[in-house]
Amino acid sequence: MSWNSLPEIANTMVEKGRGILAADESTPTCTKRFDSIGVDSTEANRNAYRDMLFTTSGMEEFISGVILFDETIRQSTVKDGTPFPEYLTNLNVIPGIKVDKGAHPLPGTEGEKVTEGLDGLDARLKEYFELGARFAKWRAVITISETEPSSTCVAANAHALARYAALCQENGIVPIVEPEILMDGSHTIEDSFVVTEEVLHSVFYELYGQNVLLEGMILKPNMVLSGYKCSEQASIDEVAEMTVTVLKRCVPSAVPGIAFLSGGQSNENATARLNFMNKILGNHSPWNLTYSYGRALQAPSLNAWRGKEENVPVAQDAFYKRAKLNSLATKGDYSSDME
Ligand code: 13P
Repeated sequence: MSWNSLPEIANTMVEKGRGILAADESTPTCTKRFDSIGVDSTEANRNAYRDMLFTTSGMEEFISGVILFDETIRQSTVKDGTPFPEYLTNLNVIPGIKVDKGAHPLPGTEGEKVTEGLDGLDARLKEYFELGARFAKWRAVITISETEPSSTCVAANAHALARYAALCQENGIVPIVEPEILMDGSHTIEDSFVVTEEVLHSVFYELYGQNVLLEGMILKPNMVLSGYKCSEQASIDEVAEMTVTVLKRCVPSAVPGIAFLSGGQSNENATARLNFMNKILGNHSPWNLTYSYGRALQAPSLNAWRGKEENVPVAQDAFYKRAKLNSLATKGDYSSDME
């Protein structure tokens, strides 16, 4: 497969019924996930785990792209040593790459963070393109508290996202722009709405300022949610309605698609909420609404795998099932009895 322009790549990433697998856990994050199932985080085990996911038969029906980590884009299938980017491309699954260098303390704030990684990014993007990547991801992290986020934190992260996005496009790579507002804390869903609106406005203002082609990017936002510790947890329809409202206010219809992060929601909630949003928007949606989930696509399969080759078939079944249910949710055709 080859994709010839930024809009063509972006449209393929969010085509109806397909979404993105976020498998770009950095080595420390992957180690945390492996610790939870008692597996050593060796290079070989990480390769075997990613191989299990990517070689799931039929996953390409529901998965349009996979976000890889720097180590993973250089790894290969276990069976015949095909480099992962080549293997995925042959399946019409677009290889992507995480390019940010993580969230670091932001001077002038009380413990807030800004995502780094702009230095040397142009050269890294050129290498990743050669390795087969056609889209990239950069994640900004915003927290909600009594005093946060500060306008300093919102502006610095939005600016970095826009600089990254412009550099990607210059190199023929579609940027996934991910401003994640965390679920951590006791804030209400209304707090999340206000902060999400502020952050998305700021991000699109900066994208315009850096001449980013909206038709050639994908937005990866959080859903509007109650904080984990909030005593009142919003219902599925409240989450869906408030998320759709904020997106309508902030995201130009030139953007081809919105692919949500799961952010610690349960697998079932991540699917049900996406489904409800697609029900509300129906065929009149300005953008395709889909998934770019890490945990909510992988958790059952990671638990089934446990580092053992004999568990690969059940682990692949578990991954296939979550991918299929989320695919149905992009059409509003999911219901909880399918679980
Ligand atoms: P989660 O879906 O687990 O939040 O991960 C998505 C992701 O890529 C975060 O950057």
